[in-house]
Amino acid sequence: MARITSGVFTSHVPAIGAAMDLGKTADPYWQPVFNGYEFSRRWIENNRPDVVLLVFNDHASAFSLEMIPTFAIGCAERFSPADEGWGPRKVPEVIGHPELAWHIAQSVILDEFDLTIINKMDVDHGLTVPMSLMFGQPQAWPCKVIPFAVNVVQFPPPTGNRCYQLGRALRRAIESFDEDLNVQVWGTGGMSHQLQGPRAGLINQEFDNAFLDRMISDPDALAKIPHIDYVREAGSEGIELVMWLIARGALAPDAKALHRFYHVPASNTAVGHLILDNPR
Ligand code: DHB
Ligand code: FE
Repeated sequence: MARITSGVFTSHVPAIGAAMDLGKTADPYWQPVFNGYEFSRRWIENNRPDVVLLVFNDHASAFSLEMIPTFAIGCAERFSPADEGWGPRKVPEVIGHPELAWHIAQSVILDEFDLTIINKMDVDHGLTVPMSLMFGQPQAWPCKVIPFAVNVVQFPPPTGNRCYQLGRALRRAIESFDEDLNVQVWGTGGMSHQLQGPRAGLINQEFDNAFLDRMISDPDALAKIPHIDYVREAGSEGIELVMWLIARGALAPDAKALHRFYHVPASNTAVGHLILDNPR
């Protein structure tokens, strides 16, 4: 059967992708950010997933105000990097796993979480920056990826609790797939940030670090945070953190922290990163 071995949580700041693509990772501004991922790159070399279920949000690259799926699963064979201002990143095409994706869609929808099924989608920095952070700059990505998109751009986004419960349904789905696959679930986005309005530039280190604490030891409590608290404490874009709760819900409650990293600043926000390992 397929097994969920670990969860990876990381910010997906687009400027990090640009720093890698433009060869600036050793610049004094960026070096501390990339240092925080050195452990992770060595770890993933030795703990190579067959498939990553990658929870991210589209930033008006693939979707627009014309179509706003709350939860969408990518069932295609392949996904191209999206154009997003700097132009599409020159990173490898993302290869999907349609069989597992369709199995997850069937299992989760019959488990009463209504997903949108996507058979064609470009993927933006929300997905490609975490891939670059974990895998560097290979010719081809070393694993298959099932993109799982969440609306956190246009009100109303899903609640943290809905996301956490969905994670549990994803776990039931993945663990009932009849093939020996090593599956990792990644949650991306965050941490506190606000890109617009009078509070643009907001970073709340206290909130972020308490969030990281509770991701490890008390995710049930995190799942109860209401939208208004994300906006107040973590800024308008801090709502991206509900995507971490999807990945956390897919892991065992007693998953163990292997790596934790937090750094300010990166572009307009903090970089937060965790690796949690399921008990074997
Ligand atoms: C920034 C943009 C994002 O989409 C994000 O998730 C984090 C940071 C930024 O511009 O700093
Ligand atoms: Fe984002």
